[in-house]
Amino acid sequence: MANQLTDLRHRTLRDLRISVTDRCNFRCRYCMPSEIFGPDYEFLPKDSILTYEEMTRLARIFVSSGVKKLRITGGEPLMRKDLPTLIRALNQIEGVEDIAMTTNGVLLPKYAKALREAGLKRVTVSLDSLDDARFRLMNGGKSGVQPVLDGIEAAEQSGMKVKINMVVQKGINDQDILPMASYFRERKHSLRFIEFMDVGNTNGWKLDNVVTKKEILEIIQESMPLEPVDALYNGEVASRYRYKGSNEEIGIISSVSEAFCSTCSRARISAEGKLYTCLFASRGHDLRALLRSDQTDRDIAKFIEDVWTARSDSYSEDRMTNTHSLPKIEMSQIGG
Ligand code: GTP
Ligand code: 5AD
Ligand code: SF4
Ligand code: SF4
Repeated sequence: MANQLTDLRHRTLRDLRISVTDRCNFRCRYCMPSEIFGPDYEFLPKDSILTYEEMTRLARIFVSSGVKKLRITGGEPLMRKDLPTLIRALNQIEGVEDIAMTTNGVLLPKYAKALREAGLKRVTVSLDSLDDARFRLMNGGKSGVQPVLDGIEAAEQSGMKVKINMVVQKGINDQDILPMASYFRERKHSLRFIEFMDVGNTNGWKLDNVVTKKEILEIIQESMPLEPVDALYNGEVASRYRYKGSNEEIGIISSVSEAFCSTCSRARISAEGKLYTCLFASRGHDLRALLRSDQTDRDIAKFIEDVWTARSDSYSEDRMTNTHSLPKIEMSQIGG
């Protein structure tokens, strides 16, 4: 039986999000603006990034500490070589109930089949607009819409379940809410709208640019009535809604207007092996140093236990008061 760790707010550690690279082939303005992540930007050197063996060892230790769900993130995880090798190894860990991956989708036509064969059953593809010009503006001119749709198609063809993530920014892509909802309703993929967040230090976030959950619901309900769906599990990030009279669903991730810190069960590991107990953390805990020393699995498990049991993070609940001036980890290093 796996251990169960609870933090100072009685939240159990259940999910582990592993970032496999800090690199990405997109330059989304809200995540990696190209003025900062330009040709001279120094990404992590290869030897400071965890190897797949190190990630697998850590995942095994986290599972023995109660983690049941793994998510692979980046940057763009498919920029890392041989990702199916990692998936295959993670899939063999006893006690893992779910493995998912967040991707921008453009490399899925190349890798979907191998990922599925390695045991990946679902992916979440980020797509912010169906309008080519707007989408390009948002991703730093790196891709049109079609390559992402091709990626979604490839994932589906290979037998994976697909969800779509759309970050909504006022005045940038709020006009895409309805077209995106109709498009993915028709294709029976769950589309999740994410309120634009103040992650990292570079994305110029302003509260005025957030389209709230309430506003998103109003826009969709005007033409397609919705009803709430019960959460699948305690601590589910998205609030889910079903189009009345159908089985099709959407989700809304309302980190800004309705924080969900009170049930947050997620730990995150950056590509360089730092453990973060919050998406907005200013400091990580160095697991790589432990992995590359003579520490045993038990020693590392104890370290993780000490970090989690001392945890009190609640950034989204406190956003408007005292925390927003602290430096934060960049989204591209922690993967959302
Ligand atoms: P499922 O496993 O499919 O239910 O996925 P999920 O609901 O955990 O969603 P996913 O991992 O796709 O997360 C979607 C987005 O929600 C992330 O990219 C983040 O932007 C945001 N998000 C996820 N977890 C957290 C969190 O703990 N805090 C905050 N503030 N945002 C989060
Ligand atoms: N606000 C909300 N969501 C974001 N993402 C990246 N940056 C932000 C932000 N500032 C989303 C991406 C992707 C996931 C990794 O996180 O669109 O779906
Ligand atoms: Fe890349 Fe995803 Fe960040 Fe966009 S949001 S720059 S696709 S990591
Ligand atoms: Fe969890 Fe931090 Fe997000 Fe709150 S802000 S839900 S504590 S990751």
